[in-house]
Amino acid sequence: MKTAMPVTDQELIYRAAGLTKVYGERVVLDIDALEIRRGEIFAVVGPSGAGKSTLLRLLNFLEEPTSGSFEFEGVEYQTGVNIPLELKRRVTMVFQRPLLLNRSVWDNVTYGLRLRGEKDSNKQVMEALEEVGLAQFTKQQARTLSGGEAQRVSLARAIVLRPDVLLLDEPTANLDPYNVGLIEAIIKRINEQYQTTLVMVTHNVFQAKRLASRVAFILEGKLIEVAETGRFFDSPSDPRTGAFVRGDMVY
Ligand SMILES: Nc1ncnc2c1ncn2[C@@H]1O[C@H](COP(=O)(O)OP(=O)(O)O)[C@@H](O)[C@H]1O
Ligand SMILES: [Mg+2]
Repeated sequence: MKTAMPVTDQELIYRAAGLTKVYGERVVLDIDALEIRRGEIFAVVGPSGAGKSTLLRLLNFLEEPTSGSFEFEGVEYQTGVNIPLELKRRVTMVFQRPLLLNRSVWDNVTYGLRLRGEKDSNKQVMEALEEVGLAQFTKQQARTLSGGEAQRVSLARAIVLRPDVLLLDEPTANLDPYNVGLIEAIIKRINEQYQTTLVMVTHNVFQAKRLASRVAFILEGKLIEVAETGRFFDSPSDPRTGAFVRGDMVY
């Protein structure tokens, strides 16, 4: 068996220890240690309510952890301290139920760049639309799109910003197999072409297997297992991971 290469700090983009998130009286996330590497596709799986979306909101600096240490590129960000805007802008999230503006596809993809004060963005917008296969849809009104097309617009809206980290929350939930395939191909391409670090929440373990370099399993707010994809599926160290992967878990 090959021994794992030690990961240097340089290669880490996130490092968290003793990370908790408490809502009211409920501890919804309680993670002893988590490391996410630069340029990887890191999948987070687990049943509904496990805390997956909560984790993404922390990684997106949208919410603060209740406690714990939280580092981005080796710099620790403490609760109560303002996160610099330049840092926040390096991380982009596609939400589980993304809301598009009630305007054209083009306007939706331009919007984020406009907010950042970029006026001359036609080329980037066109490139992003080409990347998601919607170059012919620029003038179409967002409300007339199919579910799969709308999800691809929300991806274009994120990738046009060229983030270093792209967080995806259930990017293919409720989509047909054709659009699932398209979106998975887009995710792979973004990762390969731009070395974008991807953290992807999915309850579809097969999707994690197809795309991820490493997979994490979250159950009731706890990180049960993190492993290279092969090992995660073939020889997980926690029996609960095996049960979840086989679909045996009752929840
Ligand atoms: N803003 C909030 N206030 C209170 N409880 C919340 C809030 N957000 C999430 N929760 C609770 O935290 C738990 C984890 O939620 P979530 O991270 O959305 O799970 P998942 O994405 O894995 O389905 C759930 O029980 C949910 O009800
Ligand atoms: Mg969720």
